[in-house]
Amino acid sequence: MGGINPYNQSTEPVLPTQPYKVTFEPMGKTVEVDPKDFPYSDDGLPGSVLDIALGHGVEVDHACGGVCACSTCHVILDQGFETCQEAGEDEEDMLDTAPGLELKSRLACQAVPDGTGDLVVRIPSWNRNHAKEAPH
Ligand code: FES
Repeated sequence: MGGINPYNQSTEPVLPTQPYKVTFEPMGKTVEVDPKDFPYSDDGLPGSVLDIALGHGVEVDHACGGVCACSTCHVILDQGFETCQEAGEDEEDMLDTAPGLELKSRLACQAVPDGTGDLVVRIPSWNRNHAKEAPH
């Protein structure tokens, strides 16, 4: 497959200009995002879902440090998927290696919402509580 999807938005992130909310599932934790506080963390694109999660104490695995070089930060944007910039080719390639891929899958470190709507972010079970897993 190749070519350009005419429905694609730009892959350049557009930062929000107003506060909005992100709910992380399944913990049901809702956080208020204020763009003037970006970046919240040192990992992922400023204003990305990973940046927002880490800045609010929500653990999302991010083995490569948020530079689009793994797929451990895979999340599903059950709401607000369309408020993020289109995934770039590098992100698409990494997502192809992620287990449990869904139509609204994104890499948390790359997906930057533009703040035009609230988000519901589902963190897959394989990406939760890694630190609590029993040693093998
Ligand atoms: S943390 Fe590695 S791709 Fe997002």
